[in-house]
Amino acid sequence: MSKQLILALSKGRILDETLPLLADAGITPAEDLGKSRKLLFDTNLADVKLVVIRATDVPTYVQLGAADLGIAGKDVLLEHGAEGLYEPLDLDIARCKLMTAGVTGEQPAHARRRVATKFVNIARRYYAEQGIQAEVIKLYGAMELAPLMNLADEIVDIVDTGNTLRANGMEPRELIAHISTRLVVNKAAMTMKHERIKPLLARLESAVKKRQ
Ligand code: ATP
Ligand code: PRP
Ligand code: MG
Repeated sequence: MSKQLILALSKGRILDETLPLLADAGITPAEDLGKSRKLLFDTNLADVKLVVIRATDVPTYVQLGAADLGIAGKDVLLEHGAEGLYEPLDLDIARCKLMTAGVTGEQPAHARRRVATKFVNIARRYYAEQGIQAEVIKLYGAMELAPLMNLADEIVDIVDTGNTLRANGMEPRELIAHISTRLVVNKAAMTMKHERIKPLLARLESAVKKRQ
């Protein structure tokens, strides 16, 4: 097995908060991630490389062992499932909530509630747990548009300030989960590469603690 550790980073808003945290942990990319078209980067640590991929692809890379470790939102992890993954550390960044939401003041009109979301697994599980019949409609973005266009009665989406909901005449309804960004580790790597992973985990853990 390779002696290198590959850490998979989520592109987008998590990356903006991840890089300062990695810097606090003494891990810096060898070149500017924002400026490069490359996807695989060396770091100041000889045995640590970074890959920068779609947030939703991070659990797949780590589960299948293409990356040893990954950084991903709890929403993405809940949707993907935890098989083959350890989740040893809450990085305490990109905090938000996963909620149901609907048009302000309106009640769901259909007996079988139509729910638009990109989190189809989470939504199916949630409504089943609540004993609510739901038809889950998969979307890839702009969920807040669906109830306005009468595509759905409700959405399941990320809420932070609530500004996006308000701007579209919608209100948050039920809380499904508190979300933050987590470190995940491939289960086999955790055993086979423990001597390398342990100090990296310790660096990240103390960087997180220093901020709290
Ligand atoms: P893509 O744009 O590739 O479809 P995405 O919209 O999920 O993916 P980002 O917006 O970068 O990607 O969000 C990545 C993660 O950041 C989410 O999985 C979630 O954990 C967190 N997140 C999303 N929106 C917010 C928000 N408004 N405030 C705080 N954290 C958020
Ligand atoms: C995210 C999320 C919500 C919004 C919630 O979208 O999908 O739409 O933030 O945040 P708020 O409660 O503070 O408004 P993002 O900004 O990532 O845009 P996206 O649709 O491109 O993912
Ligand atoms: Mg987004």
